[in-house]
Amino acid sequence: MAARRKLGVQKAGVEHDMLQPDFQRLPLPGPYTASFFHRWGDLEERGRLSRGDRYWLGVLSTAGLWSREQVEVNYWPVIRRLKQSFPVLHGKNILEIGCGGGILLRFLKEVEGVNVRGVDTSKLAIDYARRCNNLNGEVEAGGLSSLDGFPSSWADVILSVRVMEPLTLTDSQVRGYLRHSDHVLRRGGLHLHFVTENVHEDTFRRLGYADVTTEPLKGGLFNYCITAKKR
Ligand SMILES: C[S@@+](CC[C@H](N)C(=O)[O-])C[C@H]1O[C@@H](n2cnc3c(N)ncnc32)[C@H](O)[C@@H]1O
Repeated sequence: MAARRKLGVQKAGVEHDMLQPDFQRLPLPGPYTASFFHRWGDLEERGRLSRGDRYWLGVLSTAGLWSREQVEVNYWPVIRRLKQSFPVLHGKNILEIGCGGGILLRFLKEVEGVNVRGVDTSKLAIDYARRCNNLNGEVEAGGLSSLDGFPSSWADVILSVRVMEPLTLTDSQVRGYLRHSDHVLRRGGLHLHFVTENVHEDTFRRLGYADVTTEPLKGGLFNYCITAKKR
């Protein structure tokens, strides 16, 4: 088993500049062979794929795997925000909504003492997360209602990255998600949501969360971080 390591991404105190340099993609591993794409491509042709599955088929067939360095650079604002809120991440429980292929969760799972869980509506993305990102029992395919079975008050943090977007989750779906996920977050726990459009801050306020803020971020995959605390 790979040694769990401390979060050592700050690299001599210099923050990544979020320029998304053009790293070389790594080849997809064994399970993602031509026959895999053939099978999912066939389902797509027959109109049997969900929107999330179509998205992930596109990502996997064109992008390949991200290197660890790419994860560190592209998700640096998430990691920095987590470290601001929790200087000691050891012992923390993190739930990611819309975890996709699990690239961020895998990274967080390697931090010593951190426990992760993730959900995503795309079966294809969850298959990928299990096979390629070393996440098995930690991730499950499902939407809003899959959160109902989660242990209550388990999470210190609930986060999402590029999920609470107008084109991904509508405002009413976001409200639904917050209601379904509320029992999973412990009192005083944090919602951290990384978005490209600043549209959901008021939703958190209306639902009674405390200390709601939207922090603009510099460039990269997303433009804002919404933070909200459970009372
Ligand atoms: C733009 S992708 C971002 C994926 C990942 N967070 C990342 O940063 O790479 C949006 C993700 O949200 C998932 N998604 C969309 N609606 C969802 C819902 N109702 N419940 C859970 N996941 C959802 C999609 O399947 C997709 O994986």
